[in-house]
Amino acid sequence: MRKLSPHIFFALLVSIVWAACQHDIINPNSNVSKDTVVVVLPPTNGGATGTGTGTCDTTSFLYNSTIQTILSTSCSGCHGTAPGSANIYLGDYASAKAYVLANTTTFLNAINYSTAIAASKRMPPAGKLASCQITQVQKWITNAYPQGVATGTGGTTPAPVVSDTVCFNSEVLPLYVSYCASAGCHSVASHRESVITTDYGYIMNGIRAKNPNSSKYYTIIGNGMPPRSSPQMTATNTATILKWINQGALNTACTNTCDTTKFGYANAVQTIIADNCGGCHGTSPGSANVYLGTYASAKAYISANTTLFNNAISHAASLTAAQRMPPAAKMIDCKIVQIQKWIANGYPQ
Ligand code: HEC
Ligand code: HEC
Repeated sequence: MRKLSPHIFFALLVSIVWAACQHDIINPNSNVSKDTVVVVLPPTNGGATGTGTGTCDTTSFLYNSTIQTILSTSCSGCHGTAPGSANIYLGDYASAKAYVLANTTTFLNAINYSTAIAASKRMPPAGKLASCQITQVQKWITNAYPQGVATGTGGTTPAPVVSDTVCFNSEVLPLYVSYCASAGCHSVASHRESVITTDYGYIMNGIRAKNPNSSKYYTIIGNGMPPRSSPQMTATNTATILKWINQGALNTACTNTCDTTKFGYANAVQTIIADNCGGCHGTSPGSANVYLGTYASAKAYISANTTLFNNAISHAASLTAAQRMPPAAKMIDCKIVQIQKWIANGYPQ
């Protein structure tokens, strides 16, 4: 027999592979030996009923840079103007967050094409989102719906704000609430010796701007207050208060002054808990028997009470006012995000 030309040989090989491949698709249980033919099928990307496998960056899950695009591309045709199909309106940040927060399970079942729900409720109806988009949406949810910073063209992860101004609301107030305003001490209800330290107005009763030496609520720290048996502020804490007084003791409110890419215990969470909770939960047994003073105790308490803990630090409306933590002043959202990322990622040290 004449030698096969390379062209004919190649065409023959392709048709054998194709035939074997078709055969497997039509009858996957066929017992034809597969030993000699290796068939590599192309990936299935989307399609009416396919499961998408497109790639995307699952470290991006802020609303402004990622989630907004997913919702407007795949959902807005039906849920993008109020009231929306089935009265579900997802057309802006506030409405999407409100709906998903109140209907998390329904929403997750819908985008995951859960077999627990009717086919008509699987969203979007024309074909499932790519799995990496679903991951992004799920991260947005488990990270408490971070919005990010709008930057006009596409959006990027916001860089941490670096500023030398001490923020009263996120750096100073938490220290006074935690170390001075526990029940029985200087809360509004107990106000021992008429001292209350739960908000700016009360705290300024004992502070003189730019004059730390005549600021009684500064000089007394470490000199009798907090009482020796109670948890004490660190040198870093008192340095923060001193700097704030020297900068004019202003009622500065900062909303986003931390780096949410940091969420380990040592590089973020330990300090957040110490500053915001330490005065009441920093030594065993702690207020309400909640002790968060060490890595092991914080992890153990939170893993056994995750929902309650998340509700407490988010100041959830479902809790009584007394259960919202820290009392008097919610932490800034980006610190809540850091703690929630620590939890979602399995409590990294
Ligand atoms: C082509 C129109 C259309 C698109 C696109 C669409 N939806 Fe829907 N959606 C509907 C309709 C219609 C219903 C009511 C379905 C029913 O009750 O059977 C619905 C219901 C829902 C529900 C409630 C499901 C339930 O169990 O009650 C959720 C959640 C939802 N959509 C989310 C989304 C999300 C998220 C997207 C985008 C990823 C999306 N939808 C895209 C039309 C759409
Ligand atoms: C000023 C003191 C004080 C500070 C600061 C404080 N807590 Fe509490 N915490 C309490 C008291 C008092 C209770 C009991 C509240 C109740 O059930 O009425 C409590 C209860 C709790 C509970 C249990 C809630 C429940 O319903 O059982 C959790 C969780 C908690 N705190 C976490 C924290 C975290 C986290 C922080 C810091 C972000 C913090 N707390 C800061 C005093 C404080």
